[in-house]
Amino acid sequence: NSSRAAGAGHTALDVVLEGLRRLEYRGYDSAGVAVLADGTIASRKKSGKLSNLLAELEASPLPESLTGIGHTRWATHGGPTDRNAHPHLADGGRLAMIHNGIIENFAELKQELLAKGVAFESETDTEVAAALLGDIFRNQLNGDSGKLQKAMQLACQRLEGAFTLLAVHADQPGVVVAARRNSPLVVGLGDGENFLGSDVSGFIDYTRRAVELGQDQIVTITADTVEITDFFGNPAAGKEYHVDWDPASAEKGGFSSFMEKEIHDQPDAVAQTLLGRSDLNGKLTLDELRIDPELLKQVDKIIVLACGTAAYAGLVAKYAIENWCRIPTEVELAHEFRYRDPIVDANTLVVSISQSGETMDTLMAVRYAREQGAKTISICNTNGSTIPRESDAVLYTHAGPEIAVASTKAFLAQITAAYLLGLYLAQLRGNIFTGQIKDVLADLSKIPAKIQKILDNAGPLRELARSMKDEKSVLFLGRHVGYPVALEGALKLKEIAYLHAEGFAAGELKHGPIALIDEGQPVFVVVPSPRGRDSLHSKVVSNIQEVRARGARTLVIAEEGDESVRDYSEHVFYVPETPTLLMPLLTTVPLQIFAAELAGAKGYDVDQPRNLAKSVTVE
Ligand code: G6P
Repeated sequence: NSSRAAGAGHTALDVVLEGLRRLEYRGYDSAGVAVLADGTIASRKKSGKLSNLLAELEASPLPESLTGIGHTRWATHGGPTDRNAHPHLADGGRLAMIHNGIIENFAELKQELLAKGVAFESETDTEVAAALLGDIFRNQLNGDSGKLQKAMQLACQRLEGAFTLLAVHADQPGVVVAARRNSPLVVGLGDGENFLGSDVSGFIDYTRRAVELGQDQIVTITADTVEITDFFGNPAAGKEYHVDWDPASAEKGGFSSFMEKEIHDQPDAVAQTLLGRSDLNGKLTLDELRIDPELLKQVDKIIVLACGTAAYAGLVAKYAIENWCRIPTEVELAHEFRYRDPIVDANTLVVSISQSGETMDTLMAVRYAREQGAKTISICNTNGSTIPRESDAVLYTHAGPEIAVASTKAFLAQITAAYLLGLYLAQLRGNIFTGQIKDVLADLSKIPAKIQKILDNAGPLRELARSMKDEKSVLFLGRHVGYPVALEGALKLKEIAYLHAEGFAAGELKHGPIALIDEGQPVFVVVPSPRGRDSLHSKVVSNIQEVRARGARTLVIAEEGDESVRDYSEHVFYVPETPTLLMPLLTTVPLQIFAAELAGAKGYDVDQPRNLAKSVTVE
């Protein structure tokens, strides 16, 4: 959601629509706006992408206004229809509300309001929250001057679940009141105007001054004031910070899609994430990790928690951390973690990985781990977001804003940050020689140029992808760190090309999946460096032969100079030489390019694939 109050020559609608354009990656099932003008509320909403709302506004313009709210939706309760789109109106059309999250007790509240004679137009939980707020405003607070703010406090005291709510009321021109529990909301401080957004990109064109809010807080903005309280009206303070993202970095910059641009941003994303985190002597300097090094030395188990692509970065991290630190490391999907009674104590280090820092499943898992006494470190790409704020320490990835729903540059930056963390722990605990750390850092520093080389030579791969647009299924195989790469390659194809794709550990193939192979089945194989550990390479080469013998079309990603794969591959795509543990930073890139090119050839919206959202803030 995006909102703004007054001033500085911009109209509310322009600001809100620009904010929605920048935030549309968070959900695109419907979009809607409401503005406060001449003592009334005017609203337009439309199912589908923001472009549908823009067409509606052309046909049926809204009056000029300085106060407004807007929303793009990722449907939870109620299908993606016009009627279920936000804003929802209440109090006889004098109040408008937008909402992210889920109100868990909405059914019970709805019964209560129906009994009072309130009528509902949609199936959403949001309309119930709006009606509750409207009822409190109208019937319980006569004569109270700061009515909307007070009504929001009382409403929030009754709501269960996770929510960000924004409301405007025709009786209070120039005021936007917002509340948050477990769902993202940031304030933007302008000059004679103030803003609210789910993240800073909602107002990045107007100000770089942002304020973080805590849990269970209410914020009331006007053109000149920002007031923060808890749900009971007690004053609270927000933490101001500077937004260092450049608005231009959230633009396509001549590429056909954000995803293509972000794939090309990867040399920079890795370089920026490495920058300033080691000295010339090969010593890691992660002073930003504000956890007492003595405590980190005592860690006897690491659990990596994440979802989606970030979880695959976690799988890569496991191989590196265990190799360098000799600390047992588990990787778990965040939404599975707390339901299995995990063994966590004060000597457990929980490393969460999240691009957005807002994924609800990951946030809840981190909270659970902290309650059990674990130390928590967040690897995150978004300054001021909730997961780093609720963790003991944070190691930021510096990938810049990632807009395409399917993650690319954030993934490589997450892997890079995980390597740095692994090396740092090894250094602290004296597991490996400083000389060895220096060598790994030197290898890492060469990665950006190697990624660039892959990007510059992707022509044949793109051609292959276009030729495969009518395939029904693609399989991906990898071993060791190539296994998470295979999983990520398959996920990219599912996400944006809606193509059946599966990633397998190459060794598992003969235990079942090989039955899927018949004549012409395309299989990507991620081959480790032939210079790496004994037999790993030759085992994967054998796996290529096994699938080829059964009719598969073998599409191979291998290291430059590896001639041994040629005879068994329909196509080989070479990546520059690098030590096996670091190979995912290179071998992932061709698979990203393949998916983006194939989805583009099918005519799909590569940046906003159906049913998905970039930041999933519900459990
Ligand atoms: C969503 C996105 C995925 C992403 C996952 C984790 O499902 O569609 O692309 O990998 O969330 O997101 P996070 O922000 O926690 O890295």
